[in-house]
Amino acid sequence: MKGSFPIESFRQLETPFYYYDTAVLRKTLAAIANQTRCNGNYRVHYAIKANANSKLLRIISSYGLGADCVSGGEIQAALEAGFPPESIVFAGVGKTDKEILLGLRNNIGCFNVESIPELEVIDQLAARLSTTARVAFRINPNVGAHTHANITTGLAENKFGIAMEDLDWVVALAEGLSHVRFVGLHFHIGSQILDMSDFVSLCNRINDLQGHLANRKTIVESINVGGGLGVEYRHPNRKPIPDLDNYFNVFHNHLKLQPHQTLHFELGRAVVAQCGSLVSRVTFVKQGSFKQFAILDAGFSDLIRPAFYQAYHKIENISSDEEKQTYDVVGPICESSDVFQKATELNKTHRGDFLVIRSAGAYGETMASCYNCRSLPMSHLSDEFHF
Ligand code: LLP
Repeated sequence: MKGSFPIESFRQLETPFYYYDTAVLRKTLAAIANQTRCNGNYRVHYAIKANANSKLLRIISSYGLGADCVSGGEIQAALEAGFPPESIVFAGVGKTDKEILLGLRNNIGCFNVESIPELEVIDQLAARLSTTARVAFRINPNVGAHTHANITTGLAENKFGIAMEDLDWVVALAEGLSHVRFVGLHFHIGSQILDMSDFVSLCNRINDLQGHLANRKTIVESINVGGGLGVEYRHPNRKPIPDLDNYFNVFHNHLKLQPHQTLHFELGRAVVAQCGSLVSRVTFVKQGSFKQFAILDAGFSDLIRPAFYQAYHKIENISSDEEKQTYDVVGPICESSDVFQKATELNKTHRGDFLVIRSAGAYGETMASCYNCRSLPMSHLSDEFHF
């Protein structure tokens, strides 16, 4: 046992693999369930894109969360893991007919519609099945988020959602269609947001839009504020559970909900990031002309966040207690971007040591690929080991 890692059990296992600490996951889920207990009109839908590992999905659904899906595959995974169909919301700018039909046949809770052509296709397909689809409009609120440009979604220049100025006429259009029922508004401004003032700006924007719709006598049953709550990548031990109180309080204090309205959240990263670590072995320690490299058996095919978003993940050598040295921690893939971290301090590292890359539970396993004909990473849950 080193820190919270069962290193003796790891010795029997092939690397790399994702290790999920279910105690951390369960504590996070209990904190979320507590929020929804205290606020009866709040619903949290777990964003499956963050991690679709079937064992984790079963645990998450057992805490009463709904699911936020962006593909037919995710709807299927949610249903298989026991998420009730009515708790599923389905977003995405390019839903195919096959995916829409899957959602309609399973009578999912809501389609988060991102364009007028999509609304019309949902109406036609629902008519074909003699059913009615509940739809929310994803509105692009033109609210920025202080996060990486690749994961900012709520600006007018982004491909997501319907422009605010089109809201009136899309609502009127939906009212004229017989197989869709307009139920609400959906927003999502970005991901890994730690500055709560971004969510305050979103609340203010929603209040304006709600005021406008109220004047027009449009009934809005639900408001969905998307996901985005960030986690502390630099201090996974100090803060294993995200600041949920602070986050939910922002909406409680700033969003003017009408008495009959439900408020929906689509949290992904905040639910699963801190419970996951990517565990790898050091294949070689190599002395370059200027630097020392720790070359891992994990690469960006297993965890692409550092290469793709220049994301920071804390790395620890759990096999060594020797004095610290400086390493570039890199993978084996034939691309110079296959770097997990440059000039990082690790306990003196040797071939065969276990290095763990922390806070990798969100957008790690789901974004893995087989590039270089590598195998997809395996996964193990802490429940499988005896401590
Ligand atoms: N709802 C919608 C409509 C979304 O697009 C997303 C994430 C979420 C909810 C969940 O957001 P979260 O609570 O996880 O921030 N691969 C990137 C993150 C992409 C996020 C995409 N959308 C990363 O590794 O940072």
